[in-house]
Amino acid sequence: MKEQVIHFQRMISDTHDAEEILQAVVSFFPNNTICFSSSLGWEDQVITDMIWKNDLPIEIFTLDTGRLFPETYSLMEQLYEHYKKRIRVYFPDAADVEQLVNEKGPNCFYASIENRKYCCYVRKVKPLTRALQGMRCWITGIRAEQSPDRSHLPQVEWDEAHRVIKVHPLLHWTLDEVKTYVRQHHVPYNPLHDKGFVSIGCAPCTRAIRPGEDYRAGRWWWEDQTKKECGLHMTPTAS
Ligand code: ADX
Ligand code: SF4
Repeated sequence: MKEQVIHFQRMISDTHDAEEILQAVVSFFPNNTICFSSSLGWEDQVITDMIWKNDLPIEIFTLDTGRLFPETYSLMEQLYEHYKKRIRVYFPDAADVEQLVNEKGPNCFYASIENRKYCCYVRKVKPLTRALQGMRCWITGIRAEQSPDRSHLPQVEWDEAHRVIKVHPLLHWTLDEVKTYVRQHHVPYNPLHDKGFVSIGCAPCTRAIRPGEDYRAGRWWWEDQTKKECGLHMTPTAS
């Protein structure tokens, strides 16, 4: 697998052109083995636009935790109206959620980091494993600017936990470049972005950021720690 990562890395040679990267992915990996995970944030909307506009054979999916903002669900509908295509939705296992809520309560994540990680595990991490089954390439909307951990990521990496090659086409894009693409291509986006929400996750765990705060300050804001990740991207290189 290492050889494949190196080979593919060479093919795209750290290009800034995300559409070129997506085309390269499609030519490198077999059909039905490429997927893109979308949280429906700005970055992900850019990638979705590039995939659907060019009719690329890449499955787009989202992990619906059951706790998303109403605006995020409205955006899913808007996406359908705009592109006449639907994102595939993965839900957590119903029995897992019942156990979590019955044992710990509906808002247990505020009580401890352990509870928060358990909730993220049940609602996101476990469904992600299901979504990645049979896949060889997993595309994400991660950007280096988003956090110190992400600033060191390579554009192409091997994810040992899921045994897929992970590709981040927008890794070197700035937030301004993302916004410009959205504006120029009339891409539908979450109206929460205009209200100070930069990174959008679950409603109870996301708030708007204030001027000068870092991009991820609005996620799990009550936690006093620097490495605020939900577990989706906890491969050795990302942690
Ligand atoms: S998170 O790990 O903190 O939740 P973040 O919100 O920064 O991640 O998003 C980074 C990338 O992770 C997104 O571009 C997307 O590829 C993926 N991602 C995050 N949340 C989801 C989700 N609910 N469904 C699908 N993919 C997601
Ligand atoms: Fe649960 Fe919050 Fe994690 Fe969403 S972000 S899965 S509500 S702890």
